[in-house]
Amino acid sequence: MFGKIKSFERLGNKIKISFEKRIGEIEVISPYIINVFAAFKREEHFSRAIEGEKAQSCDIKVTGYEDRIEIHTEAVKVLVYDNFKVDFFDVNGIALCEDYRGIRESFIRRGNGSIGEGEGHKTENNYDLHKIEVIKTMKGNEYFYGFGDKTGPLNKKGYQYEMWNTDDPSPHVESHKALYKSIPFFITLREKQAFGIFFDNTFKSNFDMGKENSNYYYFGANDGNLDYYFIAGPKITNILDRYTYLTGKTPLPQKWTLGYQQCRWSYASENRVMEIAENFRKKDIPCDVLYLDIDYMDGYRVFTWDKEKFEDPKLMIKKLKEMGFKLVTIIDPGVKKDKGYSIYDQGIKNNYFATDKDGIPYVNEVWPGDSLYPDYSKPEVRTWWSENQKIMMDAGVEGIWNDMNEPASFRGPLPDDVMFNNDGRLSDHTEIHNVYGHLMSMATFEGIKKYTGKRPFVITRACYAGTQKYATAWTGDNQSFWQHLRMSLPMLMNLGISGITFCGTDVGGFSSDCTAELLSRWVQVGCFTPLFRNHSAMHTRDQEPWAFDKVTEEINRKYIKLRYKLLPYLYDLMWVSENAGLPVMRALMLHYQQDEKTYEINDEFMFGENILVAPVVQQGQKARTVYLPKGTWIDYWTKEVIEGEKYILRETPLDVCPIFIKAGSIIPSYEPQSYVGEAQNKNLILDVYLGKGKYVHYGDDGESFKYKDGEYNLYEFTMEASQEAVVLNIDNVHNNYKTTYERFTFNINNFIAREILVDGKAIDFNINKDEFEKTTFVVLAKNSKILIR
Ligand code: GLC
Repeated sequence: MFGKIKSFERLGNKIKISFEKRIGEIEVISPYIINVFAAFKREEHFSRAIEGEKAQSCDIKVTGYEDRIEIHTEAVKVLVYDNFKVDFFDVNGIALCEDYRGIRESFIRRGNGSIGEGEGHKTENNYDLHKIEVIKTMKGNEYFYGFGDKTGPLNKKGYQYEMWNTDDPSPHVESHKALYKSIPFFITLREKQAFGIFFDNTFKSNFDMGKENSNYYYFGANDGNLDYYFIAGPKITNILDRYTYLTGKTPLPQKWTLGYQQCRWSYASENRVMEIAENFRKKDIPCDVLYLDIDYMDGYRVFTWDKEKFEDPKLMIKKLKEMGFKLVTIIDPGVKKDKGYSIYDQGIKNNYFATDKDGIPYVNEVWPGDSLYPDYSKPEVRTWWSENQKIMMDAGVEGIWNDMNEPASFRGPLPDDVMFNNDGRLSDHTEIHNVYGHLMSMATFEGIKKYTGKRPFVITRACYAGTQKYATAWTGDNQSFWQHLRMSLPMLMNLGISGITFCGTDVGGFSSDCTAELLSRWVQVGCFTPLFRNHSAMHTRDQEPWAFDKVTEEINRKYIKLRYKLLPYLYDLMWVSENAGLPVMRALMLHYQQDEKTYEINDEFMFGENILVAPVVQQGQKARTVYLPKGTWIDYWTKEVIEGEKYILRETPLDVCPIFIKAGSIIPSYEPQSYVGEAQNKNLILDVYLGKGKYVHYGDDGESFKYKDGEYNLYEFTMEASQEAVVLNIDNVHNNYKTTYERFTFNINNFIAREILVDGKAIDFNINKDEFEKTTFVVLAKNSKILIR
């Protein structure tokens, strides 16, 4: 396809290589990030995921040899050969990622697949050859992670996936090649070293991770450019930082968005909404957010209200606010075809809708019936859409839920030749489809930001790489099945590995009827999921925390309260995410990359670096094994100290989700409140688990962008502990936000103190021996050195 290398030329950090038949380019973005590019579709290097200039100035060395070109950075060596074969090595010359030199050759499929189709079986097929295809050598001991919200296990080896945003209501099982999101990014881990590949191509693309042939894995597309990034590690955590350097980090959300959220298709009258709100408060179950699904609208016309069901939305929202609730409303892209409806009229008048190839606005069907699709790839449409948010914000709505933005269509898929503006590059649906939801989220985000001045809360179903900059994402229409609870863990861990830190599933399951036990177990997972939202479909049984029996209600209360207790820790994790690109829900190998036993753990995860969660995801399971990696761990419930690097067995009565804290952790928490901001948190509780450790706690106003100008606080807590004494240091390393803290309450677990000195002066303390041993004391929230012995 490329032919032999004829010559090359270096332009800054770009090496332009003339092959016999085409030009190829290697660009060094940073010593760790290398872009491989060849123009197939258009000359210009255009990305929807990467915004702004990312290339950094760095030292590189380029040398031409008879058979190759060598490019050296301080971290990688790139070798380019004829036919644009590209190999990546580390600086020690160890091959990391090499192009495959053989041809694609599938394992044999015997017999005739169509026979099985008679009985309704789906025929398995390999992908055809692609116009653009990159085949990498597989040595056999690889593990693959990422790819967004794909079904199946954490490790994607042996699986095939498709990037084509798809709204598929059938039960999500392992054979689904595509769901709602297209994030063409993955990490390869081999012999404890990892690297990432990001194939920045918005057309339908395919990934085969050694399913077709175990000698190679590949990715390809039939349109667009050859445009991929090699991202060096070797640590996965570093790759995530670098991938999100390119595509953007999940910004710090408003604090209330991390509270518990209750949704339903649909709370469709003011009375019902108020009844739900009152129940939360009456039953002492914390909750911050209530949702309105499509039935609040007038005939599903976006940006309208059904005035029979909601006579005075503004007043209702005001009442909810007084009770501490925020209201989030759904806004789908489909605009009802309806003359006289202002959104439709404006769209038609200004040519804001996607058209057929002859320029006639394209019509398909979604909830409102005949509907048109705003062309978010046109800048004026994004501006218009962002301005429409004002309608909702003026009513007091605090967040927007963007659904059906794959885009979904009830009368068959959008034809390939539906046309979009693509910021002036007239493009068809095949190019825009996978970024449609991304661009819609972007417009929504901009509007909310403009009209509220606060950090926007947008929740989206469809995503492309980089959507994390604009929205939180949920995994779409799961079902109230145990399999779906089980699958949610690798799904969310892989979403985190794909840059989407702020994500969650419909707790309790969307379709089908939930059971008491399933909801009890799901809420235990939800407690540690960044987006914690219970949602269920029309006509399914009630699924609110109190919808079953008293036991289920109590379990919901317990874990929702635990979530509120841990909010300062979770908020810290979101801050880490904005700064280092690390997810909240982390697959174990992110922190234990040297330990192969962690590589395929599907049913445990780290909640940040300090907390390991091993939920129960099987019906009736009374005990489960837990793998604890190397180190010392403390059982959160019993405070038992356990040495890791082994499997243990934990009993799991229905109200127990096994949780383990890493020794050396200092976990910040608050007294649980009914909602974020109910009371000022003047007292920060710090749960100390002995060991050597450091913890940085972040604080700001929890809603504005002032933190970007430095208006925040950072407290650094450090600990040294021995059998006899614990030394704690409090250091307010950044002090630019007038903190509300007056006191810090320390709980030193598994330690009975005889004396505590704060900056040399003895203070009072309490010893608790009832439940388990701990020493509790209170100090002023200021820099100090504490000696406990
Ligand atoms: C889609 C969404 C679901 C929503 C429903 C009605 O199925 O995924 O969450 O409740 O539409 O709007």
